[in-house]
Amino acid sequence: MIFGATGDLAKRKLFPSLYQLFIKGKLSEQFAVIGIARSSLSNDQFQANVKESITTFLGTTEKVDEFISHFYYKSHDIADPSSYAELKRIAEELDQHYQLEGNRVFYLAMAPEFFGKIAEHLKSDGLTDVKGFKRLVIEKPFGHDLESAKILNNQIRKAFSENEIYRIDHYLGKEMVQNIQVIRFANAIFEPLWNNRYISNIQVTSSETLGVEERGRYYENSGALRDMVQNHMLQMVALLAMEPPIKLTTDEIRSEKVKALRAMRPLEGNAVHENFVRGQYGKGTMKGENVPAYREENMVNPDSNTETFVSGKLMFDTFRWAGVPFYIRTGKRMTAKSTKIVVQFKDIPMNLYYKTDQTLNPNLLVIHIQPEEGITLYLNAKKSGQKMDATPIKLNFSNKDVHDMNTPEAYESLLYDCMIGDATNFTHWDEVALSWSFVDKISAVWENEKEQNFPNYESGSMGPMASDELLAKDGFFWWPITDLDVESC
Ligand code: BG6
Repeated sequence: MIFGATGDLAKRKLFPSLYQLFIKGKLSEQFAVIGIARSSLSNDQFQANVKESITTFLGTTEKVDEFISHFYYKSHDIADPSSYAELKRIAEELDQHYQLEGNRVFYLAMAPEFFGKIAEHLKSDGLTDVKGFKRLVIEKPFGHDLESAKILNNQIRKAFSENEIYRIDHYLGKEMVQNIQVIRFANAIFEPLWNNRYISNIQVTSSETLGVEERGRYYENSGALRDMVQNHMLQMVALLAMEPPIKLTTDEIRSEKVKALRAMRPLEGNAVHENFVRGQYGKGTMKGENVPAYREENMVNPDSNTETFVSGKLMFDTFRWAGVPFYIRTGKRMTAKSTKIVVQFKDIPMNLYYKTDQTLNPNLLVIHIQPEEGITLYLNAKKSGQKMDATPIKLNFSNKDVHDMNTPEAYESLLYDCMIGDATNFTHWDEVALSWSFVDKISAVWENEKEQNFPNYESGSMGPMASDELLAKDGFFWWPITDLDVESC
């Protein structure tokens, strides 16, 4: 059951992803989707919408009529018990018809203020009363801060147990985010170096070119800290910082991530100013077009104090990471759309090439999350020719070159995981709570103090100067998000 079936997420991501699973034979013949939303639509109209979404976003019609024949629609009032009773009746009929053995997935793809209420009704009106499995998939934002997240969690826990709740963080569905573990734990050459003896710092960037678009109302109350840092950025950092799990099971992996988040040094008061930078985009040019400042966007306060950019320095108080900064940065209206992790290794103990005035580049391991997917290892090697000069080179692996196809969309793999009952790439409540408690302390400072310099970065740039200064204080700089200009092999 998809609550919010006429919304953007369903149209852009869920229907196309389900279709891909169907085409790849990963959905059994026995499935039915009930689309649920407020507006009144017939089944035929709803099926036509699903078809349109497939043709628009995937440009294909292969077996699409067969696919949409599994879709049903129910116009629904989320506060009305009789509406749930009707939904229950439809679900039971479909269960019989498709022999679903009482297995149900409830996907909440709608405004977060309704999550708790729907979950409560699903239980009180008997929809969770099934002999098969019941699972709740819940979109972000999971609360607005720790307090509201706790309230929401308590509401949904009345109807679903922790292991029946699948909290979506779509970054965990990205192929290369999932690859972080494999790169770390399946290679003898990285894990021994993955610590403060060999790594000088780690940089995680997720930059976007888009502004807030039509989401001004939501974004004004969220800002980049809640929108990106609390979830996606901290999830990537946890995967980089965690200890190897004893087994690759959901519980073991999640518990290592939780441990990593617990070791993250909390920042309060002045430490927030010293370690975190906020930015808001002003106007500028993107691809030759003039774009407005954040404060001129729709539904945005002309005097807004909301940040559209965050960079920060995170420290983990563990034996492995003591002294190694993890820098994160994310923002809207930046130079390019790119998510990248750069692991910078420490310099070698002495430079034998100093006589030729050569400074050696540090070794870097770059994990390209998007739009490219792959890894690059920057090394130093001999420059061809007579002299023993060193030159930087790179070893490149690109996912797309090898598999000659697009990797599955994040939602495709997350939907599949949920159907087979694998919650590894979903966030556990403990992770959500720890992330909120870290982020809340930062927002408490920022919300209390109006930033006088907003807007402080131009659209199309890499954020405010203070973000560069944050690293410069430690003797580092942000590695460019574009490929470094060195020979490839
Ligand atoms: C969402 C945020 O979670 O992630 C958006 O709400 C942001 O503001 C998006 O644009 C970025 O996702 P991706 O996959 O495009 O990097």
